[in-house]
Amino acid sequence: PVDRRVDDLLRRMTLEEKVGQMTQIRLGKLRGNCEWNPGPLREDCMKAVLEDAKVGSILSGGGDAPNPNTPRAWAEMTNAIQKYAMDHSRLPIPLIYGADGVHGHSNVLSATMFPHQIGLGATWNPELQQRLGESTGRAMRATGVFWNFAPVSDIARDTRWGRYYETYSEDPVLAGALAAANVRGQQSDPTDGTAKLTATAKHFAGYSEPFNGHDRAPAQLPIRYLQDTVLPAFQPQFDAGVGTVMINSGAVNGVPAHASKYLLTTQLRERMGFRGVAITDWEDIRFLVDRYHVAADYQEAIAMAVNAGVDMAMEPSNAAEFTSGLLASVRSGAVSGKRIDQAVRRILKLKFELGLFEKPYVDPEKADAIVNGADRALARQAAAESAVLLRNEGGVLPLSSSVGKLVVTGDTADSAARQLGGWTVGWQGVPEWSPMPPTVTVLQGIKAAAPSANVVSAPTQAEAVAQAGDADAVVVVLGEDPGAEGEADTEEPALTAAQQGLVDAVRATGKPVVVVLLTGRPQVLGTVADAPALVAGWLPGTEGGAAIADVLFGAVNPSGKLPVSWPKSVGDQPFSYDQVRGANAAPGSGYDPAFAFGHGLSYTTFTTSTPTLKSAEVGRDDKVKVSVKVANTGSRDGTLVVPVYVHQPVSKVLTPQQRLVAFTRVELKAGEERTVDVTFDVKRLAVTAGDMDGGGKPEVAKGAYEVVVGDGKARFTVR
Ligand code: IFM
Repeated sequence: PVDRRVDDLLRRMTLEEKVGQMTQIRLGKLRGNCEWNPGPLREDCMKAVLEDAKVGSILSGGGDAPNPNTPRAWAEMTNAIQKYAMDHSRLPIPLIYGADGVHGHSNVLSATMFPHQIGLGATWNPELQQRLGESTGRAMRATGVFWNFAPVSDIARDTRWGRYYETYSEDPVLAGALAAANVRGQQSDPTDGTAKLTATAKHFAGYSEPFNGHDRAPAQLPIRYLQDTVLPAFQPQFDAGVGTVMINSGAVNGVPAHASKYLLTTQLRERMGFRGVAITDWEDIRFLVDRYHVAADYQEAIAMAVNAGVDMAMEPSNAAEFTSGLLASVRSGAVSGKRIDQAVRRILKLKFELGLFEKPYVDPEKADAIVNGADRALARQAAAESAVLLRNEGGVLPLSSSVGKLVVTGDTADSAARQLGGWTVGWQGVPEWSPMPPTVTVLQGIKAAAPSANVVSAPTQAEAVAQAGDADAVVVVLGEDPGAEGEADTEEPALTAAQQGLVDAVRATGKPVVVVLLTGRPQVLGTVADAPALVAGWLPGTEGGAAIADVLFGAVNPSGKLPVSWPKSVGDQPFSYDQVRGANAAPGSGYDPAFAFGHGLSYTTFTTSTPTLKSAEVGRDDKVKVSVKVANTGSRDGTLVVPVYVHQPVSKVLTPQQRLVAFTRVELKAGEERTVDVTFDVKRLAVTAGDMDGGGKPEVAKGAYEVVVGDGKARFTVR
């Protein structure tokens, strides 16, 4: 029935109405002087964008004007824009409003903000991602936002890149599983009477690997790497039915992704089976002219992008210029009417499937109650599960809650802005004009967890050292400045000399020292590498301080495992565990991290048996079922993550020493033992074969493989 409704509507639309649907304009243009302005909506601006240019979508984007500051005001604003569109379009077709809810509805000051994706990667917990997705979707829908530009499916390979924290993992299987679960949550059926929301798989594809670490610098990605590592991180989202894709702003192998028919049509549609709407990133069609110089003028760029596979242009600077350019391209034959219909059909289908035609408005009366401070417990759980205990020499942790005196120091001990990171209220982190979102800092979390302790805040190194004298322990919390696109890039992804100096100085007092790192990427640690206790807390969100305290005092037994490799040196870029052999290196020796992918300690101890397989011979379309016996051999309850890797002893093209193919999490009471089964598709083993010809599709090679779990292996054959 949706297809019939789409066809019917499409038949009745003019070409002008169609290209309007292919356009998304930023909120700022509906206000004030039609450009940047935080003020109220203006009739003349709404007329220009919604009535004259017939624009079908509005966004509150990263570099946009300030958003309303309460959920209710958000809902009233999106309703007003929707009403204008409905009242001033001939057919009428509802708008879809988009925003970046990348860690909760992080555009709203009063919303609960979850950890950023890099921390969530450390949970290895898809079920939790699904619940976070549900919560984010509920909050966004309550404010009339039905399109969330999240999650990020790019893989984390280069800590210099400033958007590293927005990714889940360096591994495509882990990143893909978590992203798909998040999408399922975001896109789940509403129970509060609104239309549905669509998530976004972004940034398709190869965005996270600019060759020099700088955002949007070109990427060079060999076909084998693109097909076997980069694209597989997206596939689970497509299989889960994600409604939209956002395109990589960068160029891959010399072609801007926005002009790449190979990426946007051959791979995205024909091979990977994506059926939804492909949207550009901010102003990216213009950049085909101004920055990449692959088109002589804007009109040529528009035709190039639309023919490559762009269905909707995000903030093409000027709605009228884009729509008239696209109209001219259709009239000149540079873009076919069929291609326009294909794009508009996808957009209308999305709007119908979400239910926007039936439910274009939301109830502002409900918005505050749904958004304000909701799901705090979930945020705390997510932040606690994301914490990775990197070192714990001599059992410094957990701290006793009856500790006498505790010194808390470091640049991020009491800094909500740093703890929350970028994309919080504003794009580059909490803007100067905004109050701080209600946040529990680590200092506050520690005070609440140990109410009888003398918790002393020492903002400077001198105070920390002086106070350490009669203290039982010192907690040093270190972080980095928040930032987003471009602004957070660094050539020095390392702790600063001042940060190392502080840790060295408090360690010199001889007191037990716990270092908590609240950073969006693994920082090269320098002298901090051998601090007795080290916790990676990532960017843990508004409840982060409470969650860190839960881990420090043992209310939560840490279960986080590194979703990325922790480099020893700033030169280790790009970096990942799935290295292939080199002629000059013993197997595996090219990988020498400070802490390996998958590392993470617990307050209890576990054992894992050698894996056994249900069948030692499988076909290419089969699944492999792996069983392992796991046991909690310590005295505390705990959660064990069990990663399953595959190794191919002989392969015609180089394959990694180990490839993650599946994983599970097991909660085990102290002393408990259990057998767990983990299953993976043989298809996961596909690699792009062939020599330098490059055109091939990934295939599963026949022959011998090994399943590796912990120190144990089991052989199987693909026939
Ligand atoms: O969704 C984002 C994208 O990730 C980066 N550029 C801006 C978009 C909209 O804010």
